[in-house]
Amino acid sequence: MAGYLAKCLEITTFADKLYSMGLIDEIKRRRTFAVISHPDAGKTTLTEKLLLFGGAIHIAGAVKSNKIKKTATSDWMEIEKQRGISVATSVMAFDYDGYKINILDTPGHQDFQEDTFRTLTAVDSVIIVVDCAKGVETQTRKLMNVCRMRNTPVIVFVNKMDRNGNKPFDLMDELEKELNINVRPLSWPINQGDKFKGVYNLFQHKLDLYKPNKQIITESIEFDDINNPELEKHIGEEDALQIRNDLELIEGVYSEFNIDDYMAAKVAPVFFGSALNNFGVKELLDCFCKIAPCPQPTQAAERVIKPEEEAFSGFVFKIHANMDPNHRSCIAFVKLCSGKFERNVNYKHVRFNKLMKFSSPTAFMAQKKETVDEAWPGDIVGLPDNGGTFKIGDTLTSGEMIHFKGLPSFSPEMFKYIENDDPMKAKQLNKGIEQLMDEGVAQLFINQFNGRKIIGTVGQLQFEVIQYRLLHEYNAQCRWEPISLYKACWVESDDPEEMENFKKRKYQYMAIDKEGRNVFLADSGYILQMAQSDFPKIRFHFSSEF
Ligand code: G4P
Repeated sequence: MAGYLAKCLEITTFADKLYSMGLIDEIKRRRTFAVISHPDAGKTTLTEKLLLFGGAIHIAGAVKSNKIKKTATSDWMEIEKQRGISVATSVMAFDYDGYKINILDTPGHQDFQEDTFRTLTAVDSVIIVVDCAKGVETQTRKLMNVCRMRNTPVIVFVNKMDRNGNKPFDLMDELEKELNINVRPLSWPINQGDKFKGVYNLFQHKLDLYKPNKQIITESIEFDDINNPELEKHIGEEDALQIRNDLELIEGVYSEFNIDDYMAAKVAPVFFGSALNNFGVKELLDCFCKIAPCPQPTQAAERVIKPEEEAFSGFVFKIHANMDPNHRSCIAFVKLCSGKFERNVNYKHVRFNKLMKFSSPTAFMAQKKETVDEAWPGDIVGLPDNGGTFKIGDTLTSGEMIHFKGLPSFSPEMFKYIENDDPMKAKQLNKGIEQLMDEGVAQLFINQFNGRKIIGTVGQLQFEVIQYRLLHEYNAQCRWEPISLYKACWVESDDPEEMENFKKRKYQYMAIDKEGRNVFLADSGYILQMAQSDFPKIRFHFSSEF
């Protein structure tokens, strides 16, 4: 950062200098991150407590968006009811101790996984919540893979220490093995479950004593020297002996916490606590503000964009449709990558190569939407879109033609033919399908053999979402027909002749995606394997970005 700062201050005019200093100060104080977890580990509870500490909400129970996941069955109507809330909680921003915190919410339901993956492209770091009894679960593992792909720094919060769970050292081993990253405890529990007494905070050298209470926060005592006999008075002889032994072992086994390794996503600091009981959350937030990265450079296809560049740039990572059934209106969520964004200023919509200005961009402070006049790198602004202006991945700039990378679509896992059920509404249906795909709800493939449209999703729920929204927003009726497919993967080759040969041989299995790229539809793992071994010059990709 010091390097950036020095570079940015080599500016000629006084006005530029002032402007640039404002920009850099704003960048330095921003923390844009997501809280991720397997459902039920405590993501919603932790997020809510972070908001409470930030003064963004005043009562517990205000954050409900993730209750969506509690719907065990695929009940889209229930989800629809709750979507109004989830718009407001898509981004939660608040000021804390001079920092501007932007928490990006990720859907709890696994059928919305792809939405979560895309949200992770817009954050600079993540906090992973793990249930101390359940350890690392499937969804945690998958999300961590995405973080690893992008080198996103992670902090782990081991939650529910008020319950009996795995032994802390076993948990450390599990985290290292299952998340495939080195860990470094920055707090360490004193017992757990009924006997949980608190943690020793290795980051601030404090003894944080636990009181099961949803309203008050931790009692912290400065405690530089763990060998101080005062320790016995607070936690008793047995636990004092245990924590001293544990800390000795920690210092012996784990290397000293190194912030550069954390920033490089090589090591994940670990905290213990109980979100429900407000325990360990403030300590986590304080440490997070100090160590977590401010907005980082973003890779565009053409070059790397640094946040402190004066020219504005940003990309759309999420599109949220509104609830109003009478007219279709959406909000496009734009992550700012560089420069300052201003209301009513012309910006280039790169895909259309057209200038546009926005009179009512919104920010999401404290769960409320409000119009903003300016925003800075790391912030998210919501731009109203009344039909087809934006699609996922679109770039806005002060004028430069750049394209941000890193918003891949993943190979879907479920497929159905989509058919028109009302011949009078074919136009509406096609428009609806096109716009929903631009929003990233699912993926469309056109089978080259029979010309039929195939929708690919990661979960059953998406089919219900599409059918419901086509009817309510586009007045179009669709019908699903089964298709037995195992995987759709993007294919390419440096040898055009081989590609033509492949397409001819596999003509029943060939499709094109929305961008016109070749997709191979394998109806079984065996067919896919055979194709891979028969055509070594063809590359098979399981994500759309290659
Ligand atoms: P999620 O977003 O990761 O899916 O989890 P969420 O916060 O909704 O928490 C899942 C359940 O775990 C909730 O209970 C919540 O109260 C509980 N929980 C969260 N943190 C702690 C903790 O530190 N200790 C204990 N003992 N429980 C915790 P629920 O009964 O499913 O929901 P609710 O009725 O309490 O809302």
